[in-house]
Amino acid sequence: MPESRNIVIFDTTLRDGEQSPGCSMNRGEKLEVAQALVDLGVDVIEAGFPIASPGDFESVRDIARNIRGATICGLARCNDKDIDRAWEALQDAPDARIHVFLATSAIHRQFKLKMDKEEIIRRAIAGVKRAKSVCDNIEFSPEDAARTEPDFLCEVVEAAIAAGATTVNIPDTVGYATPVHMGGVIRNLVERVPNIDQAVISVHCHNDLGLAVANSLASVENGAGQIECTVNGLGERAGNCALEEVVMAMRTRGDHYHVETRIHSSRLVPTSRLVSHITGMRVQRNKAIVGRNAFAHEAGIHQDGMLKERTTYEIMRPEDVGFTKTDLVLGKHSGRAALADRAEELGYHLEEQQLAEVFAAFKQLADKKKEVYDGDIVALVEQRNTQIADQWQMVAYEVHVSAGAKPTATITLSRSDETRTCAKQGGDGPLDAIFRAIEQITGKSVVVHDFRVQSATPGKDAQGESMVVVEYEEQLYRGRGVSTDTVEAAARAFLNAINHIEIGVSGTAVAKRGRTV
Ligand code: KIV
Ligand code: ZN
Repeated sequence: MPESRNIVIFDTTLRDGEQSPGCSMNRGEKLEVAQALVDLGVDVIEAGFPIASPGDFESVRDIARNIRGATICGLARCNDKDIDRAWEALQDAPDARIHVFLATSAIHRQFKLKMDKEEIIRRAIAGVKRAKSVCDNIEFSPEDAARTEPDFLCEVVEAAIAAGATTVNIPDTVGYATPVHMGGVIRNLVERVPNIDQAVISVHCHNDLGLAVANSLASVENGAGQIECTVNGLGERAGNCALEEVVMAMRTRGDHYHVETRIHSSRLVPTSRLVSHITGMRVQRNKAIVGRNAFAHEAGIHQDGMLKERTTYEIMRPEDVGFTKTDLVLGKHSGRAALADRAEELGYHLEEQQLAEVFAAFKQLADKKKEVYDGDIVALVEQRNTQIADQWQMVAYEVHVSAGAKPTATITLSRSDETRTCAKQGGDGPLDAIFRAIEQITGKSVVVHDFRVQSATPGKDAQGESMVVVEYEEQLYRGRGVSTDTVEAAARAFLNAINHIEIGVSGTAVAKRGRTV
C-alpha cells in the first residue's frame, strides 16, 4: 500500500464564495464562518481581498486578529498597493499567507492586461518578491492557468517559485477544463518545472461545466498537494469546488487516492448549514454529502437492502458527515444543558449570554410546540444572531384581511426609548401592508428583490423561516426572521434587513457581476 500524502485544504468561502451574487456577509458573520472553518479543520482560510473595499479590509483584519488554528490568507493583485494593503490586514495573524495573482493566458494577456509574456513574468516576480519581503508564506496564482500555453505556464511557475512562492496555485478560472485536461496541466508542471519540489502545487477549479470536484481530484492524482474549495461549492458564477464533496471523495475512496486531510468530517453538515443560513443560499435537497436527501433511501428494494446490510446501498454513514441520528430532540421539560449540547452537535457553540437568550426563546417555542426539532434549534440560534442591539424592534402587529377589501396592517416598533405605530393599506396583500408600515416608521424606502418563507421543520406547527433581500441606494441587504406565525416571520425578516441598513452593515452592490476578480 502506498503511503498516504496530506492534502492541504484551502478554503475560499470568505473570498471567492463571497463573490457569488447575493452571498455577501458582514464582519460578524465572516468571523463566525472563519471560526467554523477552524473547527472543521481547514488548513488555510482565504479571508478576503483587502484592497477590494474598506469592509473587505476590516474583515480580513478581524479574522487575522481573532481567529487561531489556521493560516489566514489575503488576496492581492501583483502590484505594490494591493500587496501592502493585504499585509496591513494580515500582519497580526500568527500564521499569515499573502496570495498574489496575475493572469497568464493569451486571452487575458491580450484583452484584459494588454501585456506581453515578458511583462507578465516581470510583474509576477516583482509581486512575489514584494510579498516575500514581509511574509514568508506566499502563494502565487497564474489566473486562467488552465487556458495558458503549457510552456509559458511552466516558465511563469518556475519564475514565481524562484522569486519565493511557497505555493503555486493553478486556477481553472472559467471552469473550462475537463479531468484529463486538468490532470495533464498539473502533470506537465510536475515533470517540467525544475524547482517544482520547492513549492506545493495547488488547484483552484470553478464549476461552470459541473466538473470542479472531478478536476480537483484529477489534479491530486497528478501531484497537487493543496485543493482550494468552498463550503457548499459557493463561488463566482456556478461556484468553486465543493469542500464537502472533494474531501469525502478522497476519504471514501482512500483505496484509490491514498491521501488524507485534517478535516473533521462530522463538522461538514453543521458548517454547511451555518454557511447556508448566513448567506441565504439554500442547499439543494439532493446535493451530495450535505443535502437533506443525500442519505434518504426511498425505493423499496434499497430500503430492504439497507435493513439487511447497510453497505448494500450506503458508501458513507450519515453520522460521518455530521447528520445526527435522530431529529426529534427536546420538549418543554428539557433543560439548558440539553439545549447547549444539542446546539453544539448542530455546529453552534453558545457562550453563556447567548445560551441564556436562546434558552428563553426555546422555552417560549416549547410552550407553543410540543416537539422541538433540530431545525427549530438552528432557526432559534440563527434568529438570535440576526438580532441587532439598539435598532428597531417589533413590539406588536395586527393584520386585517377579508375577501374583497384591501388588507391593512398596524405595526408598532420601538428603538431605544421611542415607540412608534403606523397603519397602512396594502395593494398587494397583507405583507405589502406590513412592509409599507415598517418603511413609514423607519423612514427607509426599499425595493424587495427576493422574498422566501420556508418551514424549519415538518408539521403544521412548524416555525416559518423567512428571508428577504431588499435594495437601498443601489446596495442589497439581507434580512431573516423566524416565527411560528409566517406573517410575523416575514415582518421580522423585513425589519432585520432595514436594521442592517440602519447600522451600516455593508450591502452588496446591485450589479455585483462586474467585480474585479
Ligand atoms: O478563479 C481564479 O482564478 C481566482 C484566482 C484569484 C485564484 O479566484
Ligand atoms: Zn476563483
